[in-house]
Amino acid sequence: MTMIVNGEAAEIPRDPRVSLLDFLRDDLNLSGTKKGCDQGACGACTVLVDGERVLSCLSLAVQMEGRSVTTIEGLGTPGHLHPLQQAFIEHDGFQCGYCTPGQICSAIGMAAEIARGVPSHVTTNLGDDAIRLSHDELRERMSGNLCRCGAYNGIVAAIAETFAEAPLAEAAE
Ligand code: FES
Ligand code: FES
Repeated sequence: MTMIVNGEAAEIPRDPRVSLLDFLRDDLNLSGTKKGCDQGACGACTVLVDGERVLSCLSLAVQMEGRSVTTIEGLGTPGHLHPLQQAFIEHDGFQCGYCTPGQICSAIGMAAEIARGVPSHVTTNLGDDAIRLSHDELRERMSGNLCRCGAYNGIVAAIAETFAEAPLAEAAE
């Protein structure tokens, strides 16, 4: 049984109890994905599975057979950063950086959800052709990713600049 991790095939562990998070960190040495709460409450472990954001601490590695997993290491390199990674740097979207890989993976998954027209709790007009990534939409959709350093202003500004049509000043309020 294999999965694809950052474009390369990876053998799935025989032990069905191994979480995707532990598999990534301990077996593949992809330590960019962080373990915070290990119980689905903080978002630090967020990765992309077939383009959708997933909490890897609540997922089993065996569930990933035939699926494509992208971690922060698969999004960009120091020489070729993903635009959102660059925006996090420019807007001081981190302090200790522990939540940052999860924030970035989650925001990329969120942008895909918006593009598909998936509504959130605060989406007001479900009849609109497109959902606008407003200040409220952004904060609601990213509410599962906590930052203990409180770098939220920079995080919101970086995501808004990268994905939102809203003016940066409005989204970063
Ligand atoms: S470590 Fe997975 S949500 Fe906190
Ligand atoms: S930058 Fe430290 S937890 Fe977010």
